[in-house]
Parts: sequence; structure tokens; C-alpha cells
Amino acid sequence: MRVLLAGATGTLGTALVAQLREAGHDVLGITRSARGAARLVAAGATPVVADLMDGDALLAAVGGLRADAVIHQATAITGMPMFHRNLHATDRLRDQGTAHLLRAARKVGAHRFVTQSFFLGYGYRDHGDEPVTEDRPFAEPGQGRAFDVHMRSMRANEEQVFSTPGIEGVALRYGMFYGPEVSTWTLMDMARKRLLPAVRPAGVVSLIHIGDAASATVAALERGTAGRPYNIADDEPVAFDTYVGALAEVAGAAAPMRLPAWMLRATPYMHALMAGTRIRISSERAKRELGWTPAYPTYREGLPTCRRP
Ligand SMILES: NC(=O)c1ccc[n+]([C@@H]2O[C@H](COP(=O)([O-])OP(=O)(O)OC[C@H]3O[C@@H](n4cnc5c(N)ncnc54)[C@H](OP(=O)(O)O)[C@@H]3O)[C@@H](O)[C@H]2O)c1
Repeated sequence: MRVLLAGATGTLGTALVAQLREAGHDVLGITRSARGAARLVAAGATPVVADLMDGDALLAAVGGLRADAVIHQATAITGMPMFHRNLHATDRLRDQGTAHLLRAARKVGAHRFVTQSFFLGYGYRDHGDEPVTEDRPFAEPGQGRAFDVHMRSMRANEEQVFSTPGIEGVALRYGMFYGPEVSTWTLMDMARKRLLPAVRPAGVVSLIHIGDAASATVAALERGTAGRPYNIADDEPVAFDTYVGALAEVAGAAAPMRLPAWMLRATPYMHALMAGTRIRISSERAKRELGWTPAYPTYREGLPTCRRP
């Protein structure tokens, strides 16, 4: 297929360009910068220079191009978000950005649209020990105003993709990324400086290695069923303090210092992520329907691939 990929220069996008090409697909990669365009050319993709938030400019940039499918992987998150406001630009990319990209999809003649989504759309709270499947309610309001802004955009993202006539829409609810990439290295650097605490009581999160997130995306592009969301995470949800300890160990750092969870209350988003949420998502549907399996079934196999080169 010929694929128009937004977020092609990002962490996931970079792995995805390589895997899409390996699978025999052609990639038109969207970036806002000349530097991004040069990187895409070096990776064997055709650059399309455009800002997703400027719908008319995006339509102009794709003028004359043809594609079979569109993949949305654009985000404006930099580093680990601490405050709700750190997510607002990404919220807009999931709402207006998706709307603009759907218009671009129609213009280039694409009939498939795979969009990123996020496991915490199930809610930043304690989900207990049962695996959370795609049948649970997703991105519901009612968690308080600050969270509802993110929920509204996650819902808008998926609903638009599922309901646009002529588009076979698929959403991938990825777990938390880690891999041989900048955000993971930053966490390891923080661990070395003892700036990454083990917070107790700890939350529980579902992780996914960036290479496995990319392979799931290729599988969803090729085999995902229209109108279906898929959870994409590895096989072993992990307590956040255990994960922080494992990151420190791989980084060669001393054991992280302990911090009582209440001390994170000044950074509410971080508190919700590291302490307030316990969620074990099930990726059985993706395994069954997409024929996908993670190469790194747990962070124990995956983290050793993450050392800075
Ligand atoms: N990180 C996680 O743990 C996680 C978990 C679940 C889901 N996700 C989602 O998965 C997706 C991929 O994340 P990532 O970590 O690979 O992202 P990333 O490394 O931060 O990359 C961001 C990408 O988005 C592009 N972008 C940002 N704003 C844009 C705009 N206005 N117009 C066009 N392109 C724009 C950037 O392109 P240029 O800078 O080249 O323009 C870049 O390619 C995101 O949608 C994210 O929300 C992430």
C-alpha cells in the first residue's frame, strides 16, 4: 500500500517507516520541518511538509498525491507530562488534527485510516486486577474537568475515524512506550542522577516496546477490521515503582529513592500516572485478529535493548 503517515519523524514514526518499508509499503511521511524532511528522505520515505493543525495548508500539501491509507501518529508530548496543560496541544492533535487528516485522506483517495489511541482512555483510576478489554467503556467523561479535556479528545479521535463514510477506521490503544529512544534514555539519565523516585503506593501500567508498537501498527494497517479498536500492550503489566527500579538497574544506577505518593500531588498528571492508576490491559484481540505477538513479552526482555548506543 501507499501510506500517508503523520508523525513519521517521531519515536514510533521512525520505527514505523522502517517496518512499513520492510513490509513492502511506500511511505509519504508528514513533517513540519526541512530537517524532518531530510531525515525522511534518508529513511526511504517521501516527505510531505505540513502542519496538521492547519487544515487548508495540509490539503494544499497533499494536492496531487495518492495514497491507499493514512496513519495518524502525531503528538505534541515532550518528555513525561507532569501537568494537565502539557497534554493540551496533543488533545488538539487528536481532535482537530484528526479531522484535518481525514479531509486529507479523502483528498488522496485513501480508504483506510489507522489512528493512535491511548490505554489511559479507559480512565485514570484503579481498574482492579481483571484484564481490561476493548469492550470496556472508553474515554468517558466524569473524572473531573482536567481529565475530561483529554477524554473528550481521545473519544473525538476514535469516533471520527470510525464514523467517516468511505473510511475503514481502526484505532490502536497503545500502552506506555519504551524503547531505544530519547524519552526512555531521559528516564535512565534521571535514574542515574537519582531524580526518578519509586513512588509508593504505586500505580500499575501496561507497557509496549516501540518496535512492538510499530509491528502492531503494520498488522492493523494490513488486517485490522473497520470500526474496531485494539489494545496494544505487552503481556505483563507492571507496578510503576518496579518499572522505575528496572530502568535504574539497566541504566547502571543505584536503587531509586522512595517517595510517598502524596508528595506528587503538586504534579497532578504525574500523580495519576505513577500512583493513582492501576490498569492491566489485555491485547488478546490484537493477537487473535491481527495475528500479532510482541517480540518483547515483558519489560524484562525489552529494557536491555534500550541502553543508549
Ligand atoms: N509515548 C507513549 O507512551 C504513548 C503511548 C500511547 C500512545 N501514544 C501516541 O502514539 C503516537 C506516537 O507517539 P511518539 O512518542 O512516537 O511521538 P513523538 O516522538 O513525540 O513524535 C511526534 C511526531 O508528531 C509530529 N507532529 C507533532 N505536531 C505536529 C503537527 N502540528 N503537525 C504535523 N506533525 C506533528 C512530529 O513531526 P515533526 O516534528 O517532524 O513535524 C513527530 O513526527 C502519538 O500520537 C502519541 O500520542 C504515545
